[in-house]
Amino acid sequence: MTNQLYAVVGNPVSHSKSPRIHSLFASQTGEPVEYTAIQAPMEDFSGTVRHFFERGGKGLNVTVPFKEQAWTLADHRTPRAEKAGAANTLYLDKDQELVADNTDGVGIVRDLQNNYRVSLKGLRILVLGSGGAVRGVLGPILAEQPAALTIANRTVAKAEALVRLFARDAGATVLTACGFDAPEQAFDLVINGTSASLQGDLPPVSANILNADTVVYDMMYSLQTTTFNQWALDHGACHVHDGLGMLVEQAAESFFVWRGVRPETKPVIEELRTD
Ligand code: ATR
Repeated sequence: MTNQLYAVVGNPVSHSKSPRIHSLFASQTGEPVEYTAIQAPMEDFSGTVRHFFERGGKGLNVTVPFKEQAWTLADHRTPRAEKAGAANTLYLDKDQELVADNTDGVGIVRDLQNNYRVSLKGLRILVLGSGGAVRGVLGPILAEQPAALTIANRTVAKAEALVRLFARDAGATVLTACGFDAPEQAFDLVINGTSASLQGDLPPVSANILNADTVVYDMMYSLQTTTFNQWALDHGACHVHDGLGMLVEQAAESFFVWRGVRPETKPVIEELRTD
């Protein structure tokens, strides 16, 4: 069978692990998938997408800085993409119309629940940050019915806007917004969704948000322990995880959306750790 073409689009994109992840999925499942990376010019994301599908491409992942543009460009959005305000997965439906999906939120929930055995139901969760990355994961996290979800951000108004946006999805979860200086109690789960570490910074939160049982999850990943996770370890946390598993889980969900086949993620996460 001839391979069908998939790709990740970003700018820059050469660092992306998606081609490696999807090639591993393809060999594991035997699906005829060829997956490449495409760097779109900053000013012509839509032309790049159009050209890809015109030459027979089957599906795209979208990464920084085009996730919001992908969302806008699509003819249709899945409910989870609609709520996320950004899309990381594109494909054509049977009428050749462009559909936008978002698998990031499912990715973090699956990584926590399946790979780290952290069930979110009933937990007290602190999420740091209020940008696109955080908005993308709030819906699937709230769907797990945590007891409380506090969103803390440098710009408090953005955290408050997210609380308003997700108020109806919260159900019985106590959903609140605040600045970084407000949280003073230990949480069950702390998720760092800020991009502070890209500038070598830390969100200025009190170490009182941590105790030895707190699970710390940095949505960033790196070969070494991330800046945020190192800070958490230095302040008494014992369970720290980075976002590599989330990356593989969101990829697996995209693969499933496109191919209808769900790859095993654990061997792929292990392989990437040893790369
Ligand atoms: P992303 O797509 O990664 O979410 P974004 O939408 O630009 O990127 O959001 C970045 C998030 O990290 C925001 O919550 C931002 O805080 P502001 O809303 O106040 O801008 C946060 N952030 C970025 N740099 C930071 C820093 N040095 N310290 C603390 N928070 C930071």
